Amino acid sequence: MEKTKILTDSELQKIAYFLQKDSGISLDEQKLQRFRGKIDEIVKKYSHDDFHSFYHRLRFLNDQHIKQDLINAITVNETYFWRESEQFFILCDEILPKIIGKKNMPKVRILVSPSSSGEELYSIMLAILNTKGLLEKAYIELVGIDIDSMMIAKAKKGLYDKRSVSKLPQNLLEKYFVQEGNSYKIDETLKQSATFLQKNIFDLSLEKELGKFDIIFSRNMLIYFNLEDKKRCYEQFERLLKEDGYLFLGHADSNNIDKSKFKPILTHSYVFQKS
Ligand SMILES: C[S@@+](CC[C@H](N)C(=O)[O-])C[C@H]1O[C@@H](n2cnc3c(N)ncnc32)[C@H](O)[C@@H]1O
Repeated sequence: MEKTKILTDSELQKIAYFLQKDSGISLDEQKLQRFRGKIDEIVKKYSHDDFHSFYHRLRFLNDQHIKQDLINAITVNETYFWRESEQFFILCDEILPKIIGKKNMPKVRILVSPSSSGEELYSIMLAILNTKGLLEKAYIELVGIDIDSMMIAKAKKGLYDKRSVSKLPQNLLEKYFVQEGNSYKIDETLKQSATFLQKNIFDLSLEKELGKFDIIFSRNMLIYFNLEDKKRCYEQFERLLKEDGYLFLGHADSNNIDKSKFKPILTHSYVFQKS
């Protein structure tokens, strides 16, 4: 039986507009209808079906619990270990050696934004660990951020299902994971060397809070943003990257990038350097 709708279409649109301005996540009509049930549940939970009091709490009282529940409901968190792994080899074989150069133990800072539930950041860590000579020459710090608090909690836990690790080379799975029933737990020391934080990429205090980075990985997030928010996001990357820093994008993310600000460094690699 079809559930009764709590929100009218225009009320739903109002929430979608608010969320898009805040997070950049654009919900077209089709997506909005797909998430309708979840949003209805959240309205019910906080305001017993009363849209006006709900919207007031969200929009004017800036209720962070409501906002976080809504954000968690609309994000698309699809990710897995070793996704688009060619870029990890470019990172380890070309970019990191270039940054490290002849310096004595420099600190290299990598931001993974969005990290979702951690698979991408841990994959980068595994690629670095398995490239001879990198960790002897530099201290590498990895920070992952995502707007979805549930994904950050999962990343910190480091417990994954079979589907998540299915593309990971077998030797890495055996070396760095412990099987617990049907799940795979990442090595404790790797977990402790990663930092995961719940943050919105559009937050203008990020530079002050996190400092600047040598490298940013931002894969499979910009595809969900409209043109204006993509631009806002690139401006944020410019702020967060050090001079000559590198930006790794997913293959579907890079259209509309301003090539006078980020120059492509390798054909078809979706790796850019701040200029
Ligand atoms: C499809 S996942 C991509 C994960 C990973 N980078 C990968 O390529 O496998 C997209 C992630 O972007 C996050 N996201 C969406 N808008 C965001 C924002 N404004 N700030 C930070 N993270 C955001 C979502 O929560 C979601 O986990």
